[in-house]
Amino acid sequence: MMQRLNIDYIRENLRTLSLGQSLYYFEKVSSTNDKLAELARGGAAEGTAILAETQTSGRGRSGNAWYSPPGFGIYLSVLFRPELPAIRLSGITLAWGLSCARAIGQCTPATVMIKWPNDLYLHGRKIGGLLTEHFAEEEGQFLVLGIGLNVNNELIPLELCDTASSIYLETGCGLYREDLILKILENLEADYRRFVASGLDELREELEPRFYLTKRWVSVEIAKGESVRGVATGFDLQGALLVIDGQGQTVRCQSGTVTEIEA
Ligand code: BTN
Repeated sequence: MMQRLNIDYIRENLRTLSLGQSLYYFEKVSSTNDKLAELARGGAAEGTAILAETQTSGRGRSGNAWYSPPGFGIYLSVLFRPELPAIRLSGITLAWGLSCARAIGQCTPATVMIKWPNDLYLHGRKIGGLLTEHFAEEEGQFLVLGIGLNVNNELIPLELCDTASSIYLETGCGLYREDLILKILENLEADYRRFVASGLDELREELEPRFYLTKRWVSVEIAKGESVRGVATGFDLQGALLVIDGQGQTVRCQSGTVTEIEA
C-alpha cells in the first residue's frame, strides 16, 4: 500500500517559530510552488508551507519537469518575505541547499554535496533540487522556495537514471519522510536567520567542503550560446560560481547551467 505523508505527525513535532507553522497538504497539486505563490498573493504569512504527495506539473529550473511520483519523495514549498533589497538575496539558494544537505545528514550517514546553483548530489548523482522564485509585487516582494527530493524511490526512470538517484538507492536507508521534513524546516529557519543577518558569510565555512564543483572542469552556459570553460574554484559571498578560464582569469558566473567536462 502507498505510504501517505502523516501531516498530523509533522504538525505535532515541528519545533520552529514560523516555518511550516501554517502547513497545507495536497494529495495532488499542479506545482507546490505555483500553489504557494497564489496563497502569497492572497496574503499568506512568511513561513507558510505546502507539501504535496504528488505533482502533476512539478517544475525545475530552465522549464524542466520535476518527476514527482507519490509515496516516495518530498515536494515542499516555503514562503519567505525578506525585508532585504533584492540584491542582498543573491546566494540565498546556496544557503537553503546547505539546510537541506545538513538535514539529510541528520537523518542518514550521508554527506550530501551542493552542486551550484541548486542541486543536491550524493555520490555524484542528483538526489534533489531547489527552485527559488522571486516575486516583486506592488504589496512587496516574496520568495517561494521549492524543494524536490528523491527519498525512498527504489526506481528512477530510465531517462534519468544515468544522472539521478534517491537517498535510499545511495545509502540503503529507508526514511520516514516526515522526520526529514521536520529537519529540513528547522534547518531552513535557522539558516534563513543567519542569511538575513550576514549573507553567506556565516555559512561559508560549512558550505565550502560541501561545494561539489570545486576543482572540477566545467562549462558554464551563462547566456544563450555563451559559455565559460575552465576549473571551478568555489563561490563568492554573492553566491556566484568562480571559474578559472583558459587565460588564467577568474570569471564570476552569477547564473547559468553547468556541465562537467573532461580536462
Ligand atoms: C531543479 O532541480 O531544477 C529544481 C527542482 C525543484 C522541484 C521542486 S518540487 C516542489 C516544488 N514545486 C515545483 O514545481 N518545483 C519545486
